[in-house]
Amino acid sequence: MEKLTDLLEKNREWAEKINQEDPHFFETLAQQQAPEYLWIGCSDSRVPANEIVGMLPGELFVHRNVANVVVHTDMNCLSVVQYAVEVLKVKHIMVVGHYGCGGVAASIKSEPHGLIDNWLRNIRRVYQKHREFLSTWDHSHQQLDRLCELNVIEQSVNLCETTIVQQAWANGQELTVHGWIYGLSDGLVNDLEFNASGAEEVEEQYQLAMNKMGKLQELAQASDKSQQNARTMWDKVRSIFD
Ligand code: CO
Repeated sequence: MEKLTDLLEKNREWAEKINQEDPHFFETLAQQQAPEYLWIGCSDSRVPANEIVGMLPGELFVHRNVANVVVHTDMNCLSVVQYAVEVLKVKHIMVVGHYGCGGVAASIKSEPHGLIDNWLRNIRRVYQKHREFLSTWDHSHQQLDRLCELNVIEQSVNLCETTIVQQAWANGQELTVHGWIYGLSDGLVNDLEFNASGAEEVEEQYQLAMNKMGKLQELAQASDKSQQNARTMWDKVRSIFD
């Protein structure tokens, strides 16, 4: 029989450290949670939701799955969204992808991966929808960067189209859906600037995001390879649209 003694020991150290900083922290936390944010991200161990945005327990409600997918038949994700929106009344939901996502990469490979291919089919559909745009990028890593970004935008739209978000907006509830992508290599979030705060904004935000992706492509074609880092290009695109 093997026990995870190290981890349990670390847990005690962690709780002690927090207690020293704020003796009432856990007591207060146990009585209620009132997070303003729901994070829907990838299960990847390198993308720790709370830490990335510097939030403590109680500040961020979290749902993670392989490749941060929002599917209208996924009871798990929908239940999290319903609880977050209707009970916790979060004001923001971030759909957060990350560059170099293994799930996104696997979705466009032809070799079979077993059961998970049923799940990855959702991303493959994003690839098929944007196949023409993606084919204009020279390198496979750039194609993957763009597909990771497109996946965030498409999943954000899927989220906006859930009955839960639609109903919240119809009731006049304050709620914004944001599309973000995280860089594993620099620890920074890249804001893809999809921010929908009402049903009427979804199509407009989607078109804006697509226009920005188009601009990104123009910039890539006009610049040399050393300037084609995703963040550098997005910074330029943002400055053009601002
Ligand atoms: Co991933």
